[in-house]
Amino acid sequence: MEIGDSFKELEKSVMEDMKKLYSEKVIDHFLNPRNLAQIQAPDGFGRVTGPCGDTMEIYLRVKNGRITSATFWTDGCGASIASGSMVTELVKGRGVVEAQKITQNDILNALGGLPEESLHCALLAANTLKEAVRDYLAFKNEPWKRAYRVR
Ligand code: FES
Repeated sequence: MEIGDSFKELEKSVMEDMKKLYSEKVIDHFLNPRNLAQIQAPDGFGRVTGPCGDTMEIYLRVKNGRITSATFWTDGCGASIASGSMVTELVKGRGVVEAQKITQNDILNALGGLPEESLHCALLAANTLKEAVRDYLAFKNEPWKRAYRVR
């Protein structure tokens, strides 16, 4: 067997194992994460470290009270990448107050679920989003204070 063939075999068996655990949406968002970026001077910024020790960051751009773009970064697992990717898709175009109401369950539903041991990864994404919205609301009326924000 050629090296290329054995690599393809390996790839196929890894994919088959992933499909046993994760929905197609999770696999898609994990392999092709949307909105994966750390941006400069966001209007809202959240960084949360979950009990598992992994960290997520969410960056928001807001115009007239609506989220025009959301990006994320994480050093976490595949489920956290999929959750960050999905939550940044879910908030785009939403009002900030409405966005703050997005829950762990909303993310799980949009992803088609996660295995029991990865449920907290969606919670990490929901909590990070809440933190980013809180940050936006805190600085909304006094944008100059952003210059002193520690992050
Ligand atoms: Fe830590 Fe998924 S975010 S295990």
